[in-house]
Amino acid sequence: MKARIERLRAKLFERGLEALIVVHPPNRRYLTGFTGSAGIVLITENEADLITDFRYETQAMEEAPEVTVDIAAAGEFFHRAAKRLGARDVRKVGFEAAHLTWSAYQALTEAYAAEWTPTEGLVEALRMIKDAEEIARIRAAVDLADRAFTHVINAVKAGVRERDLSLELEWFMRRNGAEGIAFPTIVASGARGSLPHGVASDQPIGRDTLITLDYGAVRDGYVSDITRTIAVGEPPKELLAIYEIVRRAQEAALRAVRPGASAKDVDRAARAYIEEHGYGPRFGHSTGHGIGLEVHEGPAVSAKSEAVLEPGMVITVEPGIYLPGLGGVRIEDDVLVTETGAEVLTTSPKTLIVAG
Ligand code: GLY
Ligand code: MN
Ligand code: MN
Repeated sequence: MKARIERLRAKLFERGLEALIVVHPPNRRYLTGFTGSAGIVLITENEADLITDFRYETQAMEEAPEVTVDIAAAGEFFHRAAKRLGARDVRKVGFEAAHLTWSAYQALTEAYAAEWTPTEGLVEALRMIKDAEEIARIRAAVDLADRAFTHVINAVKAGVRERDLSLELEWFMRRNGAEGIAFPTIVASGARGSLPHGVASDQPIGRDTLITLDYGAVRDGYVSDITRTIAVGEPPKELLAIYEIVRRAQEAALRAVRPGASAKDVDRAARAYIEEHGYGPRFGHSTGHGIGLEVHEGPAVSAKSEAVLEPGMVITVEPGIYLPGLGGVRIEDDVLVTETGAEVLTTSPKTLIVAG
């Protein structure tokens, strides 16, 4: 954690800032190790403080031994931060523009006269490059998701509700060491397959259809995010055709992942293939995103992304085609950018599985 804080300080000083107030929970955890639900972090030149409340006193001491834990009344965190800034006579203070609420901003500015400066993505930029321990945690989360896929296939058959499949996935992952699921599990069958984020419903799985499963585990704070589309019976020809197009588009994008590549070129590889086959307008989302402490973090893998891939980044590659009224296909892998290329972490099969 100390090295992370040092890297953050270097970024602050480059910008002429003397301090940063961190409120976004994943950033707070990244810098301190603290997993509680309430608290803010104050980084200055020589100090790093975690201000939290009575409920977390013991936990904060245990989880965040490298920073100073300061216990304040709930609702008083910003006043305490202001007091600490005043004691150090620090005046150029950054805050996280995307995360600090308006009321917290008012509390801060009323409590302390400083040069309050909005910052964007300072900690998030550090989080994009994973260290060995973070990669190990992501691998463990991916392994749970892959094993859950093998498990759930046995439960897929016509008549079973989407919600029952989501429960099988969640139960399996939690039974085997996940502390939670990464986001509400998507099980989108039949025509619902055209909903890119079709969270599992009470709808029973039909016959001769496709089902998209998109889910992930949380392991030691880090997530996986995998999508597989599988068949029950004999789906309509057009769905089988788009399955192969998505599969090849996904493989083309995977081949584009390497250090030094532009994230937008990875997006282009998938999108160009889908456009060549006439389905460009039906692929309306980006090709991927970073994963880590959050399920959507940097770098964006989109047509407009400015990111250049670097070793240690972990991204998803997840093109899809969605046909309203008929169904849809998405295939999503989690990929580590290595020194020499890429390692696809997810190992679940991508040839079309016919279940049930
Ligand atoms: N399920 C969200 C995503 O794949 O990005
Ligand atoms: Mn997903
Ligand atoms: Mn994803």
